[in-house]
Amino acid sequence: IKAAVFASGTGSNFEAIMKAENVACEIALLVCDKPGAKVIEKAERLGVQTFVLNPKNYPSKAEYESEVLRAVRKHEVEWIFLAGYMRLIGPTLLEAYEGKILNIHPSLLPAFPGKDAIGQAFQAGVKVTGVTVHFVDEGMDTGPVIAQEQVPILPEDTEETLKNRIQQVEHVLYPRVINQVVADSR
Ligand code: GRF
Repeated sequence: IKAAVFASGTGSNFEAIMKAENVACEIALLVCDKPGAKVIEKAERLGVQTFVLNPKNYPSKAEYESEVLRAVRKHEVEWIFLAGYMRLIGPTLLEAYEGKILNIHPSLLPAFPGKDAIGQAFQAGVKVTGVTVHFVDEGMDTGPVIAQEQVPILPEDTEETLKNRIQQVEHVLYPRVINQVVADSR
């Protein structure tokens, strides 16, 4: 079973998915909407094909997504895993991959959706935040929740230490949930 990871940034979750054991699917493609993003080097180093494109070069979201769709279909991708992909998925991809797109978000959704969830939780002064893996719908971090894990915010935390703790949880949770969901769908 082939899958694609969509990412815009550093790619630590991409790397965690690639390095996971007992994988239920093969990551056949990295789709990146940010030329120059760190995740591209990581994919090249790991021997994963990359498809990098700049949305600004397309007249509409639909045309941008049609180009992405051609690429994932060419690679026979069945599942799409968003990992720091900083863009809402539109109808073109949602209809083609209904129920087959997952996202990871660094908060206990529905709390702190959108950008900088870690900073939002830190500023809010909550004592517990966490990580959510969910199915993707047309909203921003709104699809059905598959799994959540709590992460405490400690009195001595800075945003940086909190982020590190959250990412450690992400790197274990996402590969595990991916395996589970893909295996369950067979
Ligand atoms: C992660 O914290 C993920 O939850 C969020 O974006 C971040 C991506 O980090 N959606 P990385 O690029 O995987 O290191």
